[in-house]
Amino acid sequence: MMKKLFQNQPLIDQSLERAAETLDDFSEQVYKHYFDLQPDAEQLMSHIDDIVRGKMMAEIIRLLLVEDYQQEQDYLLFEARTHADSYFVVDDMYADLLTAVVAAVQEGAQDSWDAKFEQAWDEKSQSLLVAIREHMQPT
Ligand code: HEM
Repeated sequence: MMKKLFQNQPLIDQSLERAAETLDDFSEQVYKHYFDLQPDAEQLMSHIDDIVRGKMMAEIIRLLLVEDYQQEQDYLLFEARTHADSYFVVDDMYADLLTAVVAAVQEGAQDSWDAKFEQAWDEKSQSLLVAIREHMQPT
């Protein structure tokens, strides 16, 4: 499992880089997909400006570039708590957010998207989601 994830990381890095190059505004594209999928999240984020939205996306990208979430335990605990207690973010909002990230990355990849990227992103999203869920408080 661990070994597989490590082999995936170069594919993740590569496709994030390509999406940043080919899309006008990666962050905006992710939020567009996200709000289609999750109208409640759009409501929660309606008062949040582009700067804060951009900072949040920068952290998400940073996390996607990390291979081992063991080293992110404290950070994830902090964000999961703050998001739940202060921003009223619930579990399935994270899954949809990652789905939206993958949709934007896939768009950015254009013709170079294939089964191996699909697989790498499935596993990556799953592993980040598991790490976040470990820190979710029961609702
Ligand atoms: C891996 C997942 C996530 C990470 C790493 C993350 C990270 C962040 C960060 C760093 C900020 C603060 C920006 C700043 O002020 O410096 C933020 C704000 C916020 N996030 Fe997230 N976020 C995540 C998922 C989500 C999800 C799923 C939602 C659901 C809608 C969400 C909603 C918000 C809201 C509403 C704020 C603004 C809070 C405020 O300033 O009032 N986040 N996020």
